[in-house]
Amino acid sequence: MTDLVGLLRSRRSARVPFDPARPIAPGDLDLILEAARWAPTPHNMQNFEIVVVDDAALLESLGEIPTTVSPEFLRENYAQLSFSEEELARRKVGILGAGFPPSWLDPAAWESPLAGTERTRKLQSSLLGCPMLLVVLYDTGRRAPASQGDALGLIGLGCVLENMWLAAQSRGISLQVLATLAGGDLGPVLAKLLNTPDRMRVAFGCRLGYPLADSVEGPRVRRDTGGFAFHNVYGNADFSGSPDTR
Ligand SMILES: Cc1cc2nc3c(=O)[nH]c(=O)nc-3n(C[C@H](O)[C@H](O)[C@H](O)COP(=O)(O)O)c2cc1C
Repeated sequence: MTDLVGLLRSRRSARVPFDPARPIAPGDLDLILEAARWAPTPHNMQNFEIVVVDDAALLESLGEIPTTVSPEFLRENYAQLSFSEEELARRKVGILGAGFPPSWLDPAAWESPLAGTERTRKLQSSLLGCPMLLVVLYDTGRRAPASQGDALGLIGLGCVLENMWLAAQSRGISLQVLATLAGGDLGPVLAKLLNTPDRMRVAFGCRLGYPLADSVEGPRVRRDTGGFAFHNVYGNADFSGSPDTR
């Protein structure tokens, strides 16, 4: 059990450049795909497919795709940010603002021409040298029965993600989710480059790889167990977590 908790805690988002010359070993990829295979999905509908991209020329072509962040993203992203490690440690939720382009962090700049140019960047700025990209597709032709907006089907995709993430972590492979791949503006160009059928839509991407030697990862925070788990009655915070989980 301690090993499981250790694996859960060591999994993290790798927002650092990867070594493009260090490929993912085929056996490790097999494990990651096996983990996806056994993910739970509603009604076992298995509403996903995965395109594994490790062809250098294709990765380069993907890197040339322009992506634009919306004002809505800037606003909602900003609400999740802390601006110092101390603030993040106090809040225990969200992420550090460091690492985002400066104009994304200044509401007054969002409408400026400079912000406009920083809002459109090549996908390369997100791929950061990864030797392998997984593009996870969901099948729009399958739905969890009577699930509004197919919310349950989307939760299944989250299970696929977590299974793969833990499998990667168990082999010392770093992973970052790239939600930007699911942006509507990328859909047609990705579909063309990856030759995906109409019924499949991109759910998210995962860049996989090994961080370069001098990479520094940012801090991670979580609420205490008592901050989200209640005993019998909402608000009754009896749970502080066992020594195993601290
Ligand atoms: C559905 C989903 C989408 C995410 N999208 C992104 C993303 O686009 N870019 C990114 O850097 N992290 C992304 N993340 C990672 C979260 O920001 C991260 O899991 C969270 O900040 C906790 O940090 P940790 O993964 O290091 O524990 C995503 C995570 C999930 C589950």
